[in-house]
Amino acid sequence: MSKFIITGGRKLSGEIAVKGAKNAALKIIPAAILSEETITIHNLPQIEDVGKSFDLLTDLGAEIKWAGTSATINTKNINKIELNPKLADKFRTSVMFVGPMLARFGEVKFPHPGGCVIGAGSRPIDLFLEGFKAFGAMVKEEPGKYYHVKAPKLQAAEFFFPLVSVTVTESLMMTACLISGRTILRNCAMEPEIEALAEYLNKQGAKISGAGTPTIIIEGVAKLNAGSFEVIPDRIETGSFAIMAAATKSAVKITNCRPEHILSLLGIFDKIGVAYEKGRDWLLIKETKELKAYDVRTHEYPGFPTDLQSPYVILMTQANGTALIQETIYDRRLIWTDMLSQMGANIVMCDPHRVVINGPTKLYGKKLISPDLRAGIALVIAGLIAKGTTEIDNIYQIDRGYEKLDERLKKLGALISRVD
Ligand code: EPU
Repeated sequence: MSKFIITGGRKLSGEIAVKGAKNAALKIIPAAILSEETITIHNLPQIEDVGKSFDLLTDLGAEIKWAGTSATINTKNINKIELNPKLADKFRTSVMFVGPMLARFGEVKFPHPGGCVIGAGSRPIDLFLEGFKAFGAMVKEEPGKYYHVKAPKLQAAEFFFPLVSVTVTESLMMTACLISGRTILRNCAMEPEIEALAEYLNKQGAKISGAGTPTIIIEGVAKLNAGSFEVIPDRIETGSFAIMAAATKSAVKITNCRPEHILSLLGIFDKIGVAYEKGRDWLLIKETKELKAYDVRTHEYPGFPTDLQSPYVILMTQANGTALIQETIYDRRLIWTDMLSQMGANIVMCDPHRVVINGPTKLYGKKLISPDLRAGIALVIAGLIAKGTTEIDNIYQIDRGYEKLDERLKKLGALISRVD
């Protein structure tokens, strides 16, 4: 397993450019199944999960040309309805292939998807299945082996989400594009990646309105045409780098980003003493003098993102006062924080959804294991602050979402190296 070795205690400086959004790219790729024509995608992040999506698509029979940050995909010759279990059970977003496959072929077989262990059990897919059933599909489950979803004819439907889910909203929106009639989805997630996906599908001929609001209406069309798409900048990378700059009390300019997508974080920066300037596509974090503690409760977009909760926990170890962090989306996204006590943080877990942090505290370098993607970047930030050397094992988890992080941080002056 690869590791990061970080020598902490140095300020960062300079510019860092944000890559294309992981959570946009991982939907755009399976959406290519909805069209028999060629799809071009630009600004793709070069991360593990994008590679896995392409492997899965290639295994189905698609032709893919991927060079640097651009790729063309043609799925005309897909010749099977089963997602290869050896590939699909390795990452959560393999489940994003199910809706497009069902819409195009009326049938799909797939294993329970894998991915970060941050939610209940092995992260449920019950809502996806409920949605497909609303479209008239039948679901057969062979426990521990596969799901088989099949519909002689899919029907447009009205569906109310019992809980707000990003990927289920996107899945049902994609599926409904090719179902004749009007589908109405209510209590939808409103993340910018959903709006971007809808814009892209509309450019291909889909008729989607309301994406980015709680009600999405889709008028089904017979087919989708060729398309070209530029992946939006990753708002979680933007927020992670902004927190990294604030936590290390550094001045860093973040470019190729959309500050308007992280207003919840910037609102908190205003309260805790992080000064910044912003433009349409850049964000300059100024050197922070003193940080004030401030409570955070994660919330669906446009609230404070669960994906920035872990880096924010590290920031609060450097702030004056007491901060209560409440994680409302996932059951296991605070478990990793016990590692921070070993590093010197004063942190108390009240229950799996709440921790209290008293700061500021000095952090000291330790040997750690990255448990998941966002806790992984948080540990990197902790390592950059800590006195001495921090070793982070299992950085595969970090590579899943942050492209060549070590190389990019070195350019900011960080002492970080990758050891295989
Ligand atoms: N849920 C169910 N049943 C389902 C699906 C979800 O109970 O069938 C639950 C989840 O367990 C969770 C809640 O619904 O408790 C909300 O999760 P949601 O479905 O919105 O999460 P997601 O769509 O699986 C996406 C991002 C996550 C991000 C969340 C919340 C992608 C690929 N993933 O996940 O990103 O945390 O929305 O914003 O878009 C990450 O990038 O590190 C990451 C985990």
